[in-house]
Amino acid sequence: MKILVLNGPNLNMLGIREPAIYGARNFDALIAFIEKSAAEAQVEVECYQSNHEGDLVTKIQEAYGAFDGIVINPAAYTHTSVAILDALKAVQIPAVEVHLSDISTREAFRQVSYAGMACVKTYKGLGFDGYREAILFLKDYLSGTAKE
Ligand code: DQA
Repeated sequence: MKILVLNGPNLNMLGIREPAIYGARNFDALIAFIEKSAAEAQVEVECYQSNHEGDLVTKIQEAYGAFDGIVINPAAYTHTSVAILDALKAVQIPAVEVHLSDISTREAFRQVSYAGMACVKTYKGLGFDGYREAILFLKDYLSGTAKE
């Protein structure tokens, strides 16, 4: 089982950007956490981060036929990108949305998630743990045993 983990803009600045919201651990620590979570779940994982919307769209397109599931934190593009939503809908790969912070309790402009409209589940406000939960959920979902 192969899962693609996508991270959007400014997530490479973890540890520096707004630590009160996103925590003190840096992006390398997040990738190490995701890789450990995937190894424990016995799934293959590839991580990709970009600050560019089109690069994320291309990566989603390239996942077609190559990955079984997608975990995506589109970061700010969550709230603006119809292109990422359309790419997820185009490839029809089961996707789970993750946000480090709880976007539902933040500014009004963070209340809409376009990408989320193409995702089977969302984890928010759990910090790094949200990525592990998303991987475990996708593993069950793809095996046909996910419980909602
Ligand atoms: C985020 C929440 C977004 O609103 C924000 O633009 C981010 C990170 C999160 O992980 O909490 O960059 O996706």
